[in-house]
Amino acid sequence: MNDQDVRTLEKLAVGVAREAAELALAVRDRVVGDGSVADLPTKSSATDVVTAGDQECEALIRERLGALRPDDVVLGEEGGADAEPAAGQVRWVVDPIDGTVNYAHGLPWFAVSIGAEVDGRALAGAVVEPVSGRVWSAAAGHGAQLDGRTLRASALTRPGVAVVATGLNYDPDRRARQAALVSRIAGRIGDVRRQGCASLDLCSVAAGWVDAYYEHGLHHWDWAAGALIAEEAGAVVRRPSVTDADGLGLEAVLAAGPGIAAELAELLRSLGASGL
Ligand code: IPD
Ligand code: CA
Repeated sequence: MNDQDVRTLEKLAVGVAREAAELALAVRDRVVGDGSVADLPTKSSATDVVTAGDQECEALIRERLGALRPDDVVLGEEGGADAEPAAGQVRWVVDPIDGTVNYAHGLPWFAVSIGAEVDGRALAGAVVEPVSGRVWSAAAGHGAQLDGRTLRASALTRPGVAVVATGLNYDPDRRARQAALVSRIAGRIGDVRRQGCASLDLCSVAAGWVDAYYEHGLHHWDWAAGALIAEEAGAVVRRPSVTDADGLGLEAVLAAGPGIAAELAELLRSLGASGL
């Protein structure tokens, strides 16, 4: 795929994500109503809620991608994989609403995330925040932007003062192990953030708003677009891996400014990240 093609995929991802973001906002009041989330249906655990917003946004995204790019395949949080991609085929990886718990509780920190990849390699991505209207995007080899402004990850070189974002899993046992790691690392870095939206955590790394982000147990759609955006902004990005050769845990995603990435990875390893 040539340069022009990856830019075209980026533009398309932005356009479709923008449209879905408008829909997410339009249906939010009906979906979250009085702010009570106790009656919403759940998926993997009692706190893993799914709203009509998630479902309607994914349906819209699938419809638009299907019309614009009928030869591609889609993997989405709500609808799963429509087909395995063939060699060289574009696969769209879609999180219709990342940060569903925030969305359902009325917090503004959620996003539509759409990534495009070929043969497992990220080529383009868009993350759009419905509430602020912020548009984050990247195309492989062309850098990352926030509303047209080029992004640069943190240049910090001292992990001891780094602000590090993380996330916690829906599975309560895993969440407790993750919280234990947070308690071990908290005194060794500058501060910790848990914002509740993995794609925006990765975008925050791209912008240098946080110096790093790590989380274990994300799904592909949580990181597909954001990891490319962070990487294109100059962050060092570690995606889930098939081996644990680096001792970070098979399912670890780590994105960090280049000046702290190696030391932070070593710190996470030494504090037991592979056990998460
Ligand atoms: C979740 C969010 C959260 C992260 C979880 C994800 P969802 O995605 O990104 O920040 O900690 O691991 O599953 O369920 O809101 O799409
Ligand atoms: Ca998600």
